Amino acid sequence: MRVAQNELVKGSSFKETVKATKNKLHQVAGAFLQNDLHYSGWLELLKKANQSGDKDEFMQACRSIMRFHTSTRERLPFLSGFYEHIFSSLPPIQSILDIACGFNPLTIPWMGLPMGIHYLAIDIFQDLIDFLSAYFALLPIEGQAKAFDVIESIPTHPVDLALILKTIPCLEQVDKLAGVRILDNLQAKYILISYPARSLGGRSKGMQNNYQEQFHILIDGRGYQVKKYDFPTEFVYLLSTESI
Ligand SMILES: C[S@@+](CC[C@H](N)C(=O)[O-])C[C@H]1O[C@@H](n2cnc3c(N)ncnc32)[C@H](O)[C@@H]1O
Repeated sequence: MRVAQNELVKGSSFKETVKATKNKLHQVAGAFLQNDLHYSGWLELLKKANQSGDKDEFMQACRSIMRFHTSTRERLPFLSGFYEHIFSSLPPIQSILDIACGFNPLTIPWMGLPMGIHYLAIDIFQDLIDFLSAYFALLPIEGQAKAFDVIESIPTHPVDLALILKTIPCLEQVDKLAGVRILDNLQAKYILISYPARSLGGRSKGMQNNYQEQFHILIDGRGYQVKKYDFPTEFVYLLSTESI
């Protein structure tokens, strides 16, 4: 509704407004998803793998599903070292907020989290949220998924770690101040912000420099300690108000 309202004020015809709204939603969300999503089949696959008691089988099922969202598909080749490397700088984490999560909660088996940890995942697709809620029921954690438009608001309960992976450039296509507002309202001891190292079309020229510049403008004057990690298709900043 909000994307449509933004388009309506431009005064174009009804048909053009609908087209522009669809294009914008595709650009910020739909473009990352494959057309053939099989949530109920995937849930059966996960349940079966879970019942087998074989951790590798469960992780393999997660991997196969993550291929259907570009952001997680690109993370797969280095997933085993991704959290291991980053989490080695952090004290034990008890709660996570995954903002504009996409399929990233399926990477939880790689995070090495303690049992009972609180994990809240938010995104805009209700079918994805329903799927993630059923997936969380299979894990030994307190997981919850909620449909949330993070441009409108974000959950403000205190968390140990907030994940904002490859999302800020997306949100800022709808609202230039989205990233600033999230950082203003977030109650997190640690924040992971990442950017894609190349575009959906595969281009990388100048992108990293642009995003690095945007990131430094975003955090300017906030007093964060920052640590950077480079992965083949993604670069990640760990932010903290305490030394890391
Ligand atoms: C580039 S993907 C990143 C997904 C995930 N964070 C990851 O790195 O694997 C951007 C995600 O933002 C979500 N998104 C876009 N606009 C949003 C909004 N206003 N509120 C919540 N999520 C949004 C999309 O549905 C998509 O899953």
